[in-house]
Amino acid sequence: MLDKHSPIGIIDSGIGGYSVARRLQNHLPHEDFLYLGDGANTPYGNHSAQEILHMTRRLLQFMAQRRVKALVVACNTISCVAEQLIGALECPILNVLQSGAQAVARLQPDRVGVISTCFTAQSGCYPERILRLSPDTQAISRGCPDLADLIERYIDQPGGAGRIDQAIRDNLAGLEDLDCFLLACTHYPLAQENFQRLYPHVQWLDPAEELAGAVEAFLTEHSLLNPSPELGRLEIYTTGSAPDYAHKAETAGLLQIASVRHLAI
Ligand code: DGL
Repeated sequence: MLDKHSPIGIIDSGIGGYSVARRLQNHLPHEDFLYLGDGANTPYGNHSAQEILHMTRRLLQFMAQRRVKALVVACNTISCVAEQLIGALECPILNVLQSGAQAVARLQPDRVGVISTCFTAQSGCYPERILRLSPDTQAISRGCPDLADLIERYIDQPGGAGRIDQAIRDNLAGLEDLDCFLLACTHYPLAQENFQRLYPHVQWLDPAEELAGAVEAFLTEHSLLNPSPELGRLEIYTTGSAPDYAHKAETAGLLQIASVRHLAI
């Protein structure tokens, strides 16, 4: 039996899910959130499906112990294999793919660049969904081998903006004629300011806004909204460095942070 007072779990390969967590906090201020980023194993995007599933199942064990009422798979890369995780938890598992495709369908552009990890690009998950919702849109996928990892490491570091700018330019080379992109990796919206500054004419779509609405709709439909009048709390866990995750959480603008802890799994 799911408890409406339980937290909502959020998982990501690293800090990328912070871009989803902040939208969820804005959208659902009375909910408690439990965030787990696999800082010790990030990035996931250059691994095989089997390896990604193996690493993800360990994150799910923690979420099962903490009895979350819903699990949000923020990470696009994990979302591409999320169908193979159905039934792994007692609670429902929501992922980001449909929200990303909906963000594109809302605009119905002629062409959209879908930038993501290499795994997400190779899986073909997004073009397939975009085609279903927006049949006249041509989706052009681009896997960016190192961009998420650079953002994870340098987003809050002095001089980091320059390294991230260069990586964005390198990874988007040849796509400069597109004027609409889906940020299909949770790390990228954390560097939205860099993307906008480098390509001011471009529209950057972040699936997290649609996802926050989908999570709210789901909780409402299943009578799982937390009725508390208090502001919710955010507990953060990482398999990596807790001080690093704490600093990056502040940089990302997360609210009501109750604790940031290392988790050994
Ligand atoms: N941020 C993750 C995503 O949304 C993946 C980054 C990585 O671990 O490679 O796909």
